[in-house]
Amino acid sequence: MISKQLNDTLTLTGPGTDAGEVMRRYWQPAALTDELAGKRPVVPVRLLGEDLVLFRDSDGELGLIGRGCPHRGADMCYGRLEDNGLRCPFHGWHFDRTGQCVEQPGEPEGSRMYEKIKTTAYPVIEKNGIIFAYMGPGEPPAFPNFDCFRAPETHVFAFKGLWDCNWLQAMEVGIDPAHASFLHRFLQDEDPADSYGKQFRDKAADTDIPMTKLLRDYPRPDITVEETDYGMRIIALRHLDNGKTHVRITNQIFPEAISIPMSREMIITQWHVPIDDEHCYWYSMFTSFDKPVNKELMRAQRLKEHRLPDYAPIRNKSNGYGFDPDEQMHETYTGMGLDINVHDQWAVESPGAIFDRTKEHLGKTDVALIKYRRMLRAAIASVKEGNLENLPMIGGVDPATIFGPISNDTIGDKDNWQDAFETSDRERRAACTDWDATT
Ligand code: FES
Ligand SMILES: [Fe+2]
Repeated sequence: MISKQLNDTLTLTGPGTDAGEVMRRYWQPAALTDELAGKRPVVPVRLLGEDLVLFRDSDGELGLIGRGCPHRGADMCYGRLEDNGLRCPFHGWHFDRTGQCVEQPGEPEGSRMYEKIKTTAYPVIEKNGIIFAYMGPGEPPAFPNFDCFRAPETHVFAFKGLWDCNWLQAMEVGIDPAHASFLHRFLQDEDPADSYGKQFRDKAADTDIPMTKLLRDYPRPDITVEETDYGMRIIALRHLDNGKTHVRITNQIFPEAISIPMSREMIITQWHVPIDDEHCYWYSMFTSFDKPVNKELMRAQRLKEHRLPDYAPIRNKSNGYGFDPDEQMHETYTGMGLDINVHDQWAVESPGAIFDRTKEHLGKTDVALIKYRRMLRAAIASVKEGNLENLPMIGGVDPATIFGPISNDTIGDKDNWQDAFETSDRERRAACTDWDATT
């Protein structure tokens, strides 16, 4: 357990907060490219507690500016998208994508007051289906060479979902390899042939054992954590009865993302992005080392479970997450359906909007959470001192040299598991002929 003060330090992300200032040194997912697909590409964005509006101007370029008009605060989300910018409907003030006011049509002829009006504006960049924003001071950092960024657009599918809780507890479920044996347990194994686009339904690497069975039969993983130049590598070993070891490699990507295997052909890179202190979006990039992703199928699977335009899950607290006691008895550990996102959602929302960590009791399997909190505290201290040299992917190593990260499931000899996962990763990359996945 930690003190209330430390809990606040680690969880709150508005302007001027400790963790918020760290987050503002990194690119943050602000929206999906899909959200701007309609005939009026203007969407509200609430990010790190700040209200913004994202739009695409007639040059096809993106702008992310303050939501309240600097004149008298009207909501720019209702702005007129015209003249290569966004015009406030209240008195017609017009803003370009840099946030500069370029016209005040109701002010006296010849007035140049507009030159002094500039609203909040943040740089944005589109990467494989996600629009990222940089909300910090100075120049934004370079992107690392992760697979999700360097794979071609055809091999990456992006989606998001709303969770009603603080970002940290959402992220912590992603660095907790023990929960998969319980929370995502299926009491029966479905045919892995139906597994496309779903997590934990494939066969465990190079075997005929369904992942569901392996996780169920071996619920006590040995977990070790290694610090890396992007965050942490988390190694979960499950020693099988046949003398082999199942190795699952997942990652924490600083500050609030994870990278995990999904199936033999795909990995997931997932950010847990603070909307404000009590809500977050998960943004996922599903990256294929095999064929192009079937985006239509993956989108349709997920749209069945989510409501637009806010990507709120249809199963949620208000309907008990669809809990069915019969299903809990016979089919799943949770009784909340087969979509593992719903399980995670319940696990992170039910402790309360901001979990009171003065009440927690961490065990040995929570080792990655403990290490992560240490990393975040160190980063907070560095930002306060103005010394960014120690921040992952910002100081020290050139981000262009950071590849991967390796995210996979492998089975190898008990004494040779390290070699097994590295070899399996090399083989997957070598077999990827659609794009260059080698490092
Ligand atoms: S409030 Fe926007 S132009 Fe007046
Ligand atoms: Fe999970």
